[in-house]
Amino acid sequence: MELVQEAQRFQFTRLSSSSDTEDGADVVAGLAADPKTLPCKYFYDAVGSQLFERICDTPEYYPTRTERGILTQNAADIAALTGPCEVVELGSGSASKTRILLDAYSRRADEVHFVPIDVSESILRESSRELVDRYDGLSIRGFSGTYEQALAALHPAPAPARMFVFLGSTLGNFSTSERAAFIARIRGAMAPGEFFLLGIDRRKDPAIIEAAYNDAEGLTARFNLNMLSHLNRRFHGDFVVANFAHRAIYETRRHQIEIYLDSLVAQQATLLDLDLSVSFTKGEAIRTEISKKFDPGELAAEFAPLGLEHAATWSDDREWFSLLLFRLGNRQGPAGGTD
Ligand code: AVJ
Repeated sequence: MELVQEAQRFQFTRLSSSSDTEDGADVVAGLAADPKTLPCKYFYDAVGSQLFERICDTPEYYPTRTERGILTQNAADIAALTGPCEVVELGSGSASKTRILLDAYSRRADEVHFVPIDVSESILRESSRELVDRYDGLSIRGFSGTYEQALAALHPAPAPARMFVFLGSTLGNFSTSERAAFIARIRGAMAPGEFFLLGIDRRKDPAIIEAAYNDAEGLTARFNLNMLSHLNRRFHGDFVVANFAHRAIYETRRHQIEIYLDSLVAQQATLLDLDLSVSFTKGEAIRTEISKKFDPGELAAEFAPLGLEHAATWSDDREWFSLLLFRLGNRQGPAGGTD
């Protein structure tokens, strides 16, 4: 790892570049599986990241604007509840929603400490430079790398406190076992008394959810199909993008949106750099993402055995999205918390 000093109040630690983590072993494994899958992280090349930003502005895609609304309404309350603390954000990206929180903390304290973590070093640099320009009292110690690497490399718990932040319902992209492993990692990085703020998309009328992943402008379809162009570019592939179609359905039993690329014809594709040739039958699907929708009570019950105590919930009026605040109790899990 390598420490880079960017400016007086902005330094970051380079744990890995995104190309290191995209060696393609996960692509090979996913396309060999039955049914076929591809990791959703491959959505986010430059084109895909831009498409995602545009999806967030469509009338159908409610999560981003709903979460932003909840933050705007309640940031002062959140800051009052936690008191001054260092904010550690997992997957900070452009940090556009985090600014609302940093605003609230900077109104209460002269000094605010922000620790953004993102796989994209360029986005981390860009957003951090903007942030230190904007807030006089802000200092940033960022990490470019995966969540796992960054959580393991974090400095010891600062005084007076720390809050981990994971917004955007990205938790929904994990399978149940991946989610458990992820939460255990965060829990492992927390000291007693520290906070965890989590944004989750809630269960609701499936028609509303399906519309959010099938916007009329077709941006989600382009976002999904772009994964194949990205793989073509990154691994010298020959996927014919026009031979696939976007499909997103809400699986009610599992409370999750499932996003697929359907093969419109019988076909073959090769990814030269990965030494991989794959055949598709007509109608065969590749699952590119799941996005789970949550019940706050169920999640709180899932976290409680780890010692994570549910401290507060903030929602919009329709209860489409929630922010949950957890606090690590003084008696530490997994066996603790029973008295
Ligand atoms: C960024 C993971 C929260 O699951 O809703 C949006 C990604 N995929 N449209 C989500 C996404 C299709 C989004 N997350």
